[in-house]
Amino acid sequence: MAIAQPASRPVNPRFSSGPCAKPPAFTLDKLSGAALGRSHRAAIGKAKLKAAIDETREILGIPADYRIGIVPASDTGAVEMAMWSMLGARKATMLAWESFGAGWVTDVVKQLKIDAEVKEAGYGEIVDFAEVDFDTDVVFTWNGTTSGVRVPNGDAIPADRAGLTICDATSAAFAMDLPWDKLDVVTFSWQKVLGGEAAHGMLILSPRAVERLESYTPAWPLPKIFRMTKGGKLNEGIFKGETINTPSMLAVEDYLVALDWARSVGGLKGLIARADANTAAVSAFVETHDWIDFLASDPATRSNTSVCVKFTDARIKDGAAFAKAVAKRLEAENAALDVGAYRDAPPGLRIWCGSTVETADVEALLPWIEWAFEAEIAAQTEAA
Ligand SMILES: Cc1ncc(COP(=O)(O)O)c(C=O)c1O
Repeated sequence: MAIAQPASRPVNPRFSSGPCAKPPAFTLDKLSGAALGRSHRAAIGKAKLKAAIDETREILGIPADYRIGIVPASDTGAVEMAMWSMLGARKATMLAWESFGAGWVTDVVKQLKIDAEVKEAGYGEIVDFAEVDFDTDVVFTWNGTTSGVRVPNGDAIPADRAGLTICDATSAAFAMDLPWDKLDVVTFSWQKVLGGEAAHGMLILSPRAVERLESYTPAWPLPKIFRMTKGGKLNEGIFKGETINTPSMLAVEDYLVALDWARSVGGLKGLIARADANTAAVSAFVETHDWIDFLASDPATRSNTSVCVKFTDARIKDGAAFAKAVAKRLEAENAALDVGAYRDAPPGLRIWCGSTVETADVEALLPWIEWAFEAEIAAQTEAA
């Protein structure tokens, strides 16, 4: 039976998993201090790029001896740069449990043709880290954005590993604790948890990653935008804000504004608490409704950013069509935008619960999901 529409809507219906909602109270005039029309090599541009690096270190608690660089092509650029520059020195292990991790597997196996063991798990599951040989170079995604499955902690990664750990943390950074001592390369994009703009990637390197760059030259050519060394030495300028090519100073300003906001909510702790509260609201709903469940089977691996749910009602005839129709109803009512499951993922909804989303908006969305679900069940029954 169809039910009445809820009385109110989320104030901000943006629940996209990237680009994600801007920080609350964001307005374009907050970017008026951008160094537009100025050289990024002038003192003002350099200072802003350096501030973006320094504030990233401070808020994320990145160790002083790790390098932080702003690189081209968003998170993808940062991951590719690391893989093309560092892999091939030893055997690799590629871990994947959803679409983006699978993309890195394709690159390493089919493009770079590196000797690699591939360990994969299906959507909702995760690879067993206890079985991974960390004396190989290991590439993995901290949070699988398209399945809502994350690495619970870094306990399985040995401190005395011989290989490098290369971690795509784009939908984890700023919402989850990252064990820096267990990670040699960490990447993310501004467009995710802080609701910044895409365009640039962040590439964070441990001293061991730098050592690899300075001691190993890949057999393949590297384009200019991937090159981090000069004459066998790290190009330190990249990690002080002297970017390889021209960055968008508008995107940089926007990131600085997002970092300011991050500090205003209590820094990393506050950001994590916001994502956790959003996810807890979804959990409470899932626990009290028997027609919906998480895609992530183990609560310990459940993401607090890209929260993926599936419809489990036995009356549903075509799961994919049903989930799409529910997402369409939510969008048409301006209750939730961009919440359809990722194109390669099992049917369902993906509700971004990252730190820029307000818990009140998640709470306002949930009755709309119930309304859309019941409306679609009723429509399906009528059509039969
Ligand atoms: C885990 C993961 N890796 C990589 C990407 C690609 O990021 P970008 O488009 O910022 O390069 C995404 C985007 O959603 C992602 O979720």
